Amino acid sequence: MQKLYIHPLPVRLWHWTNAFGFVLLIATGLQIRYLDLVQVLSFRTAVVAHNWIGFVLIANFFVWLGFYLFTDKIKVYHPELSPRKYFQASFRQMQFYGYGIFRGEPNPHHPSAYRKFNALQSMMYQIIMMLLVPIMFFTGLLMWDVTRFSSMVELFGGVRVVDTVHVLLFIVFSGFIIVHVYLASLGHTPTAHFKAMITGYEELEDEPKTGAGS
Ligand code: HEM
Repeated sequence: MQKLYIHPLPVRLWHWTNAFGFVLLIATGLQIRYLDLVQVLSFRTAVVAHNWIGFVLIANFFVWLGFYLFTDKIKVYHPELSPRKYFQASFRQMQFYGYGIFRGEPNPHHPSAYRKFNALQSMMYQIIMMLLVPIMFFTGLLMWDVTRFSSMVELFGGVRVVDTVHVLLFIVFSGFIIVHVYLASLGHTPTAHFKAMITGYEELEDEPKTGAGS
């Protein structure tokens, strides 16, 4: 079986810090929001922990951004510019996840160092990393000190609007993590993609042997 180095060290360090941090942010966020339902930590401890983890993840985001901006690996995030090609590839990938995978068909996407994402991952990760994560961190930062950032908070419609956006994104990220972990378990073995995010190396699935003449 061939191996391909697709996740450089900074990406792996960023990813696991981010994943672990997001789970803690969700847990402490639940505690802050639903104090009467969840009582693992005191309200004060949950707020302090939530703020600190938030700041660590904001700094960590710049590790991810810096790595991609200052290396040619940014190519993995380049969108497919032909809408026709993009939709065909997305459709093939959806067919695979919804149907082909249950019939043992091979994954239509063949990763390479500069095209490690399939069409669905490519769009999803762009939306998450370039839009939703920055909005999540920005709204969190505003609410960390509403007095200091009062003019900015007012500009965006007041504390209720900023808080609603933050909570809606909390719901989106909670759902994203479930779907993301499920999809990440659909490699040629259930742990293949997880191992790749730990070691950096993705094992390439052997092409099925085709019959003579085909
Ligand atoms: C328990 C939590 C998580 C687990 C187990 C997990 C697992 C994985 C795995 C196995 C991969 C590599 C396979 C793939 O490309 O899909 C991956 C990639 C990725 N994950 Fe996660 N993840 C988690 C949480 C998150 C969170 C919270 C985010 C963002 C908010 C995230 C964003 C990403 C991104 C952007 C990539 C592609 C990274 C790159 O190569 O540039 N993940 N994740």
